[in-house]
Amino acid sequence: MSLHEVARALVAPGKGILAADESSGTIKKRFDGIGCESTEDRRRAYREMLFTTAGAASNVSGVILFDETIRQSANDGRTLVSILEAEGVIPGIKVDKGTVPLHNAPGELITEGLDGLGARLAEYRELGAKFAKWRAVIDISATIPTQYCLDVNAHALARYAALCQQEGIVPIIEPEVLMDGAHSIETCLEVTTRTLHTVFNACFDQSVDLRGALLKPNMVIPGKLHSGGAATPDAIAEATIRCFEETVPAAIPGIVFLSGGQSDTEATANLDAINKRGPHPWSFSFSYGRALQAPALAAWKGLDANIAAGQAAYGKRARLNGAAAEGKYDNSMESAS
Ligand code: 13P
Repeated sequence: MSLHEVARALVAPGKGILAADESSGTIKKRFDGIGCESTEDRRRAYREMLFTTAGAASNVSGVILFDETIRQSANDGRTLVSILEAEGVIPGIKVDKGTVPLHNAPGELITEGLDGLGARLAEYRELGAKFAKWRAVIDISATIPTQYCLDVNAHALARYAALCQQEGIVPIIEPEVLMDGAHSIETCLEVTTRTLHTVFNACFDQSVDLRGALLKPNMVIPGKLHSGGAATPDAIAEATIRCFEETVPAAIPGIVFLSGGQSDTEATANLDAINKRGPHPWSFSFSYGRALQAPALAAWKGLDANIAAGQAAYGKRARLNGAAAEGKYDNSMESAS
C-alpha cells in the first residue's frame, strides 16, 4: 500500500486507532492504578488481551505500539504484530523519545528523538510498522506557550514527518495542547489555532506530503480546572471545527483525536457531536489511549481470570467510538449490552 492508501485506511468510515504505545513509565502508572506490578510479562499479557479482542478490528484500523511491544510475542508464540495483521489491523509505532525542558523557556518542553531516527524507522518498517507517532506537548498558563516553543516543536514534528515519508511510513503528527490548568475554551481555541498554524507552516517548509499523513490533535476544550467546569459536546464541537477549518489543509485525509484526560464517555460524546455537524473536509476519528483502555484496565486488574471482562470492556469502547466516528452514537448505547 502507498502512503496515501495507508493514511486513508487508518481513517476508513467507522474506524479509528488504538494508542497502546504507553512508555515504560506511563504503563507503570496505569498498572499502579489497578494494583498490578509492571513486569514485561504483564505488559505483554495486557496488550495481548486488547489485540485478541474478537470483533475490535471492525472499529480499530490500527494500533500504535511501543518499542518493547513491537518485538513481543503472544502466549501461543505468534508475534503481537502478526496477530494484528491477521485481523487486518495496521501496526504503528511511537518513535519520539519523550520530552525534556526547553532551554531558556521556563515550564516549556521539547520532544526528543530525531538523532538516528531514519535508521530506527527502517528497522521498525522491517518489524511491520506502517505508520508512526511523534507527540509534542504544549502547556498553557498565563505566560506560555511562547512562539519559540511552538516553533521548535513544529520544526521537530515536520522533520520527523519528512523522515517517516522518506522511509515509507505514514507520520501521525501530534501536537498536544494539554487540558491541564484553569484556562477557558476560548484560550484553548487561541493556543490550538496558533499551534496548528505553526505546525502546518513547518510541514510546508519541509515538503511533507500531507496526503500521506494524519493529524492527532487535542479537541478544543476548557482546562480541567476551569471555573466554569466542562463544556457541552456541542460547544466543544463548535470550537473544534472552527479551529480546524481555519488551520488544517484539506489534503490531510484524517484528524484523529487524542483523549488527553477526557473520560471515556466524554471522549465518545464529543467526537460524535463533531461528526454530527459534518460532512467535513477530513475524516474526524479517534486515536485514543486512556478513553479506549480505562474500562478494560479496570476490569482486567492484571489477572488472567479477568481477560474476558477486559475484552468486553475494550470491545464496547471500540464499538461506541466507531459509531461516534460516523456521528451515529447515542448515549443510550452506553447501557445497552
Ligand atoms: P490519550 O488518548 O490517553 O491522550 O493518549 C493518546 C496518545 O497517544 C497520547 O500521545
